[in-house]
Formats: sequence, C-alpha cells, structure tokens
Amino acid sequence: TVVETPLTEFLKAGGAAKCLTLRVTETHHESPQASKIQSRTIHLEGHLLDSGLVNRVLDTIVAGGGSFQVVNFSLGAQRLDTSAAEVKVSAPDLVVMADIMGQLIDLGAVSASEQTIDATLAPVTQAGVAADDFYATTIYPTEIAVAGEWIKVQGQRMDGAIAVTQTDTGAIAKCKLLRDLQVGESVVVGSEGIRTKRNTTTIKKVATEEFSFMGAGVSSERRVELVVEQIAWDLRQIRDRGGKVAVVAGPVVIHTGGSKHLNQLIREGYVHALLGGNAIAVHDIEQSLMGTSLGVDMQRGISVHGGHRHHLKAINTIRRCGSIANAVEQGVLQSGVMYECVKHNVPFSLAGSIRDDGPLPDTQMDLVAAQADYARLIEGSDLILMLSSMLHSIGVGNMTPAGVKMVCIDINPAVVTKLSDRGSIESIGVVTDVGLFLSLLVQQLNKLTGQYGG
Ligand SMILES: NC(=O)c1ccc[n+]([C@@H]2O[C@H](COP(=O)([O-])OP(=O)(O)OC[C@H]3O[C@@H](n4cnc5c(N)ncnc54)[C@H](O)[C@@H]3O)[C@@H](O)[C@H]2O)c1
Repeated sequence: TVVETPLTEFLKAGGAAKCLTLRVTETHHESPQASKIQSRTIHLEGHLLDSGLVNRVLDTIVAGGGSFQVVNFSLGAQRLDTSAAEVKVSAPDLVVMADIMGQLIDLGAVSASEQTIDATLAPVTQAGVAADDFYATTIYPTEIAVAGEWIKVQGQRMDGAIAVTQTDTGAIAKCKLLRDLQVGESVVVGSEGIRTKRNTTTIKKVATEEFSFMGAGVSSERRVELVVEQIAWDLRQIRDRGGKVAVVAGPVVIHTGGSKHLNQLIREGYVHALLGGNAIAVHDIEQSLMGTSLGVDMQRGISVHGGHRHHLKAINTIRRCGSIANAVEQGVLQSGVMYECVKHNVPFSLAGSIRDDGPLPDTQMDLVAAQADYARLIEGSDLILMLSSMLHSIGVGNMTPAGVKMVCIDINPAVVTKLSDRGSIESIGVVTDVGLFLSLLVQQLNKLTGQYGG
C-alpha cells in the first residue's frame, strides 16, 4: 500500500526527508544483526506521574542503551486513583536487555506477557559464591515465578541473592547473603520471572517535601517540632498496639546530653532493641561512672583533669565485671542507657569497628556475627530510629526491608540524604542536633501522656 504524506509544511518548519528503498522481491534472510534485537513489553501501575516513576523508567531505558515506545497510558481520573502504562522496551542485544530489565524490575515494572515466564535458576556449585549474573535483591517485596506459579521471596533485604530450594511441598525462595549460599541451592539469574512490589502512595510526596525542606538546611524550629510531633505520635501508637521500635544510636547521643531522654524512652517502653557500636556504650558508661563523656564534664561542659583516661577506666571496669549485664547485677553500673536496657530487658547489640578502644566485652568484633545479630534484632520492627551514627545506620538501612518506617536524625544533611533517599517511601530525615531532637521528642511524648494517660 502506498501512503502519500505531504511534506511541504514539514520542510518549512525545518524538517528534512530522505528516500529509502526496499526491494520487496528479495528473498528474506535473517541478518545476524537483526536477530539480536530484543524487545519486551512491561506493565507499570501506581502513582506514575506524581511519584515520578514513569520518568525514571523511561530514563532508565535510554540510559541503559535501549529505546522505548509507550504503547498505552491510562491516567487515573481522580487525584488518588492510580495510573497504568504499557511500554515496549527495545535493546540491541540480550545483554543490554537483561541489564535494563533488571533495573526496571527494581522500579516495580512487570512483564506484560500473557504467560508467566519462570525465573532462570543456576545451581550453587561453590558454597558462598553465586553464578555471575545473579539477580541482586532490593528492599522491596519480591516474587519469582517457579513452575508457572509466583512465590514470595522470604527474608527480603537488599544486596542479597535469591536462593531457591525444592521441598516436598514446592519451591522456597529466600533472600540470602552471598556468603550464606549453600551447594544444593540454586540462585535466580537474569531478569526473567521476577517482580517487585512498590507502594507508590502519596506518602512519598509528603516525606519528600518534608525531607527536602530539612535537607535544604532551612528547617525552622517550628518545622522540626512538627516532624517530632508526628514521630512522637507514631511511637506512642506503636507502643500501645504492642509493636516494635529499634533504636540505632551513636556516641553523639551521650555527648549532646541526649542520654537522659533516651533513658526515659527505654524506661517507658518505647524502645524494643538498641543497636550501636562500642562507643555509645563506652561513653554512656563513662558518664554513669564518672559524670564525663570523653573526659568532658557533662554538667559544666568543661574538660576535667585526667579526663582523657576516663573512657579507658570505664572499659576496664566493665571488663573486670565480665559484661555490662554483670556490672548492673553487681551494682557497679547504676544508671545510663545500657543500665536501662539491662533493667528493662531491652536486647542490645554492639557491633565492633576498627576505631574501638577496649573493646567492651559485649562488643561483637566478629562482624559477620554482628551483622547476623543486628538482622535478628531489627526483625519485625515497625519503626527504626537512627540517631547520629552514620556507620551503624547505613548498616541497618541495608538490611531493612521496605515497609519499615525509618527516621534518621543527623546534623549533616548529606548523611540524612544518604539514609533517607533509599527509594523507600517510609523514610523521614531530620537535620538537627540529636540532643535537641531527643529532648523535643520526650516533651511531645509527655504531652501525649498528659492527654491520653501513661
Ligand atoms: N572509643 C571508642 O571505642 C570509639 C570512639 C568513637 C567511635 N567508635 C566507633 O566508631 C564507629 C563510628 O562511630 P560513629 O557512629 O560515632 O561515627 P559516624 O561518623 O559513623 O557517625 C557519627 C554521626 O553523627 C553526626 N553528628 C555529629 N554531631 C551531631 C549532633 N550534634 N547531632 C546529630 N548528629 C551529629 C555526624 O554527622 C555523623 O553522621 C562506631 O562503631 C563507634 O562505636 C569507637
């Protein structure tokens, strides 16, 4: 069929035309180049425009070396309605396609093909090592297709592989760290038969606005107070319904005078696990035993004579007792964050680092064991409060699945950005002094207690 197209207007507007001919009588040979071109159609659903998801998807395709055609886009009619889109993705070869598809899956895209394509599995042949093109997991709930059925991946976390084992009742898929892979399991490779679920609600918008305001370094005191009010409300609700809050804390909490507030949170049942390093415990114990934090008198704010030895004396005392719990039991340690944890049965984990003095007998210097301990303690958390420890907060962030609300407090906007901007809608960042934050938080909680009882 010959289709005629008038070009005059087009040329006037600066366009150009080129004539290409195709001999239709030629016998058709599949050229090796043409056969390499790959295309897939993906389906997207959610608040595609206001969450910016559709832009990110299209940018990902182009940046990855592919091209796209939006086949279908149905825009939600009302503000809260979701939109849906079908996008045809093309890539010059299978490798580029697999790379693009892997990234699109992480953004929540699913294959639009009618029939379910099973995930590709490769056996683990060496313990602790996966096949080269293993799928790296994200924080988002993930499902894989095995024998035509979608199964949920258990133990969701980022930076793992999906290990699949066959049992009498069917296949089981689990997120596993590479080091935990066993011979006899298989891992998911490539990008077929994998889908992730994203909850692109408008909360993202609220959190982002809140956060960018803070991140811009122009957060008024009133603005911080508003965020604190919301966090206090969340803590109160979680406690009242028997939920779980984990706190990650660095030594700055002690230096800034925040420990009395953290003590109150522990005493009043708002904290259900405490994670940190050697330093938070050392400085907390130093403050309890000698009234100083790194040799600085906490009442007068000045260095005391011989104070530089205080943190070592604190470590020495606990080493003599054998553990922090023993020191509490023996009446040696009578106040502070670690004391309150022991007294109120709040489990804690202290993970070691190269900077540590001592360390305290409770500090776990085997980092693989410390990571496992952290993962165990944050399991089932509704909210994680990250108080001024970049190292430990990032460690915890990496092992936390989507759906857990994370509240990051740090004085450095860059740290808050790093912690909050993990694509999860549930993160809130507050750029402020941690001592001030804790004091405001406790004030708000006291207010709620005044209104609703203890
Ligand atoms: N004596 C010791 O054994 C000792 C001493 C220090 C640190 N350490 C260890 O080193 C590791 C890293 O320590 P870290 O977690 O303290 O360091 P980090 O650098 O990872 O985090 C400290 C964070 O606190 C923030 N900060 C500083 N002042 C603040 C304030 N007033 N309000 C809010 N945020 C503030 C910083 O911006 C930074 O992000 C830990 O494992 C720790 O236990 C050990």
